[in-house]
Amino acid sequence: MWIATKVDREGQASGIARMERSFELLGGDSFELMQVHNLRGTEIQLETMKEWKEQGRFRYIGVTTSNDRQYGSMEETMNAHQLDFVQLDYSLGNRNAEERLLRLAEDRGMAVLVNLPFGRGRLFNAVGDRPLPEWAADIDATSWAQVFLKYVMSHPAGLIPIPGTTKPHHAEDNLNAARGRLPDAALRVEMERYIDPLL
Ligand SMILES: NC(=O)c1ccc[n+]([C@@H]2O[C@H](COP(=O)([O-])OP(=O)(O)OC[C@H]3O[C@@H](n4cnc5c(N)ncnc54)[C@H](OP(=O)(O)O)[C@@H]3O)[C@@H](O)[C@H]2O)c1
Repeated sequence: MWIATKVDREGQASGIARMERSFELLGGDSFELMQVHNLRGTEIQLETMKEWKEQGRFRYIGVTTSNDRQYGSMEETMNAHQLDFVQLDYSLGNRNAEERLLRLAEDRGMAVLVNLPFGRGRLFNAVGDRPLPEWAADIDATSWAQVFLKYVMSHPAGLIPIPGTTKPHHAEDNLNAARGRLPDAALRVEMERYIDPLL
């Protein structure tokens, strides 16, 4: 188990209470990753988080966003702090983070978790009941979910998608995206050309 969670409070005391509550709920006295949720109270929360990382309570710290409107502030935060992780929204149907944030993460050596790899299900609606294109076999994808996840995972910055699901068989399907081949640069472009007219 690799546990990541977030703190979503403005103030120092409320942030501390929120993070202590995460320990109570999760059990144990340390876990892998704590993130500032949507840049809320970033400077204040990072101060506590850096201290607790020193104490071994978190192995890694980071910040998250899922909205283009925060990309400017995200960039400032990534330049101002040596973060282990950033989490942002990126998918075959939403590539706005590519130009600046993903480049910056690569330059600064920050690992990237990708939220909304299915655009909250929007990509599934876009493809509907279309059969998988022939190129899906070239990347060992047997479902649309695997196509979408392999697109994210094949970005040169080495992205880690965190798909949400309420169904065990979807979790299994999604885990299978970690097996087999990934698209190369040329196939990534073909995938973008396939999806764009459907969105
Ligand atoms: N700012 C932030 O920090 C932030 C913002 C947004 C999200 N997140 C995090 O990102 C993660 C993902 O977010 P999300 O769940 O909203 O978006 P998502 O992963 O893009 O999409 C989830 C949707 O896809 C469906 N789905 C999942 N696997 C599927 C499969 N194999 N086949 C068909 N449908 C499938 C799910 O339905 P079923 O339930 O039916 O499987 C659900 O409707 C979460 O951990 C969330 O906490 C963070």
